[in-house]
Amino acid sequence: MIRFLTGGESHGKALIGIIEGFPANLYFNIDYINKELKRRQKGYGRSNRMDIEKDEILVLSGVNNGKTTGNPISIMIKNRGSNIDLVEITRPRPGHGDLAGALKYNQKGGRNTLERASARETAMRVAVGSICKLLLKEFNIQICSHVIQIGQVKSIKNYYNGLKKEELTKADNSLIRSLDYQSEKLMIQIIEEAKEKGDTLGGIIELIGLNIPVGLGSYTNWDRKLDGKIAHSIMSIPGIKGVEFGLGFNTSGRLGSQVHDEISYDDNNTYYRETNNAGGIEGGVSNGEDIVLRAVMKPIPTLKKPLKTVDMKTKEVAFAQFERSDVCAVPSASIVAESMLSYVLANEIILKFGGDSIEEIKINYTSYINSLRNR
Ligand SMILES: Cc1cc2nc3c(=O)[nH]c(=O)nc-3n(C[C@H](O)[C@H](O)[C@H](O)COP(=O)(O)O)c2cc1C
Repeated sequence: MIRFLTGGESHGKALIGIIEGFPANLYFNIDYINKELKRRQKGYGRSNRMDIEKDEILVLSGVNNGKTTGNPISIMIKNRGSNIDLVEITRPRPGHGDLAGALKYNQKGGRNTLERASARETAMRVAVGSICKLLLKEFNIQICSHVIQIGQVKSIKNYYNGLKKEELTKADNSLIRSLDYQSEKLMIQIIEEAKEKGDTLGGIIELIGLNIPVGLGSYTNWDRKLDGKIAHSIMSIPGIKGVEFGLGFNTSGRLGSQVHDEISYDDNNTYYRETNNAGGIEGGVSNGEDIVLRAVMKPIPTLKKPLKTVDMKTKEVAFAQFERSDVCAVPSASIVAESMLSYVLANEIILKFGGDSIEEIKINYTSYINSLRNR
């Protein structure tokens, strides 16, 4: 099993990540990991902190001669924007963790909560996720994401409407990670409008896993279900308020015959589906189709034109504190979501196929895939 933990604070010296249970002999491509970190920092609507932080990893353990060793991998990302005087947050921001965190940990204000609850921590999740992506690549598994809604503006194109498979990997070409160039313009426009009003926006991202083998996850107990594990990992991203798989909430208005994917058998002796309304998971197990899910992100809680709050010192009505903030972070959240999905799937590969080195896992994987032909 792969486990990871992160440490570090938004304005602390560095973020730290430890990944345990990662197999040996995987080529550790630092350039690739740093490129993934850059992808998180892009996206229309982000604050100028992104110009200060040029995220790069420093490897402290678990890698030798460019390959993983099987030892715990420890990595660090230095914070460049750490030399500022930090003020206490006594006027907590509605929608952020400030007040609940201050009350829970018996603090005078929300500063110490903000330092950890803030999405700076997600930089380390992307570093870990990109290491997991390197593992998934060995099995030809690819993870893609794109933005399908910002505020009220919806992309006409999505997995179920008008997108071709080869387009799924092209979202990096768009400032907002949209694959629908008409709505991209409108999305950018409404972010500008929200910014002028001192307000913020959220949206919806779509995530797709390609070349997923049948049999990841299990129905045998509640905590082994693949959709449950993915939902947990995506819901743990700050600001994400809902997750749906396949047709998701849209299944409720349809008849069963309009939802479930009929089963076929092809010349290669494998089962497949003409449709993928389930989003690639049935009974908590991957069914061999693409994994498709969507996640909704609420608008950013830090508003330049702040909402009403209570001053924790005086208990009087006040306006919430403002500190440099994104107007919209949905494109970045989609990279964080790719990373969390990659972690869950890499872990499932290890759980299903076992093995302490990449070579051993590949032997087990290939033998399983070949055995499927005659089942
Ligand atoms: C990539 C990313 C960037 C974010 N940037 C900000 C930000 O600049 N300002 C802010 O108030 N919240 C930001 N958020 C959202 C908050 O971190 C989040 O709303 C807060 O921690 C409260 O958690 P909750 O929304 O899950 O309840 C960001 C989230 C993500 C994923």
